[in-house]
Amino acid sequence: MTARPVLDPAGLDTPFADLWVAVIRAGGAVGFAPDAPEAEIRGLAARSLDEVRAGRLHMIALGGPEDLDGVVFLQPGGGPVVEHRATVLRLMVHPERQGRGLGRLLLAAAVDRARALGLTQLLLSARGGTGLPAFYRHLGWTEVGRFPRALRLGPADWRDEHWFQLDL
Ligand SMILES: CC(C)(COP(=O)(O)OP(=O)(O)OC[C@H]1O[C@@H](n2cnc3c(N)ncnc32)[C@H](O)[C@@H]1OP(=O)(O)O)[C@@H](O)C(=O)NCCC(=O)NCCS
Repeated sequence: MTARPVLDPAGLDTPFADLWVAVIRAGGAVGFAPDAPEAEIRGLAARSLDEVRAGRLHMIALGGPEDLDGVVFLQPGGGPVVEHRATVLRLMVHPERQGRGLGRLLLAAAVDRARALGLTQLLLSARGGTGLPAFYRHLGWTEVGRFPRALRLGPADWRDEHWFQLDL
């Protein structure tokens, strides 16, 4: 299985929204709390693909409209002093397909895409209180800092945000 850059996300709107909802309901740490309203998730999914169409966000996908297993996005820095870098966003693998190497594959494809775009540095943030910081450390990323209680999942659920960097 190969992860491919998506230049035109035609046909992916519903599959991507379905994937994101499934990942959130399974407890995935991708921008929402597990009980977030489905319409909000679908709305942000649609806006994300609009950003891809506008060329402001790069999308990498595993599978296509019929069998979308996972996605990841790159958001290039906007401005002269940050144009060498991008932020990795919304890495997600379908809950039924996690733990089989697909996350590693997608992240490697994001790194390849970043290099192809001429970028030299990647950043990402990961939700504290999950296995994600250990996952990124395991894959060779450097943890450079942590914003305490920067994420609020609910009235009494505050999480640290862990920041990672990878020089390409
Ligand atoms: C995070 C996620 C993308 C990982 O994808 P995955 O397909 O389940 O992970 P993989 O099977 O590719 O794992 C890759 C490696 O990381 C390791 N790993 C996985 N979780 C780990 C953890 N908590 N701590 C340390 N290593 C971990 C695996 O053992 C594997 O190691 P190996 O390749 O050396 O054998 C996936 O679990 C997911 O979609 N989660 C929900 C969405 C989410 O929270 N995304 C994070 C956005 S920051």
